[in-house]
Amino acid sequence: MPDPASNELENALEQAASLLRGVRRVAVLTGAGISVESGLATFRGAGGLWEGHRVEDVATPRAFEADPNLVWRFYNLRRANLATVKPNPGHFALVQLEQRLRDGFTLVTQNVDGLHQLAGSKNVLEIHGAIRRVRCTGCGLTLDRGVDPLADLPKCAQCGALLRPDVVWFEEMLPDHVWPNAELAVKRCQCLLVIGTSALVYPAAGLIDKARSRDAKIVEVNLAPTPATAGVDIALQGPAGILLPDLIKRL
Ligand code: OAD
Repeated sequence: MPDPASNELENALEQAASLLRGVRRVAVLTGAGISVESGLATFRGAGGLWEGHRVEDVATPRAFEADPNLVWRFYNLRRANLATVKPNPGHFALVQLEQRLRDGFTLVTQNVDGLHQLAGSKNVLEIHGAIRRVRCTGCGLTLDRGVDPLADLPKCAQCGALLRPDVVWFEEMLPDHVWPNAELAVKRCQCLLVIGTSALVYPAAGLIDKARSRDAKIVEVNLAPTPATAGVDIALQGPAGILLPDLIKRL
């Protein structure tokens, strides 16, 4: 007997493919879920990054002021993890989508892992920063330092002040050279793909409402329902590394 769940997914995939065939401007919002099949942990839930750490201890400006060593140890571990991970078929499917849409494609990511760029995506807006980059707390210089562990308390070669990871911490604003472009892309898109995010963290999750308020169609790809699911046009439930290549193959 055919499995009703797989029939439902098959229909949803076909609907999503037909939607994507008919649009020229697509924005994508990704979260930690797209990197799970590369071997990286998500933030929330069992085994998530925030399970073993109190956010307040490692990802706030106050934590960095109080104990920069602890914060750097946390980020150096995450940097070291990245040395061995590679983009997965979900990341590569988005590269193919960009090649199809060219200028009509914007990828807004909450991820700091750089895997979209490693896969070959070009128009990527990193709204939560990048773990490979450091930023000087004194002069503001930012540098790509790759994934090799840094000194316990790395200092700026230009001014000698303490360096910090160039990521957005809780209680901080999103980078003002990136965020307005993400909002613009979402306002202009005809379809927003929301992939592997719990849609719990604002302002990023607010991009979904922003797209909807401009009548864009919303397609969600996630292993499980999220607070956004009830309001999306098409929900594809399953692993992004399988569903995205399947979707793109149908275009
Ligand atoms: P979360 O950990 O909150 O959510 C990950 C989502 O991915 C969940 O909804 C999972 O169901 C889904 N998921 C897991 N595996 C998947 C797979 N193989 N395919 C598809 N979906 C899968 O991560 P984010 O939503 O990215 O912010 O978290 C948002 C922000 O909260 C992060 O950028 C970070 C964090 O605190 C900052 O550090 C500023």
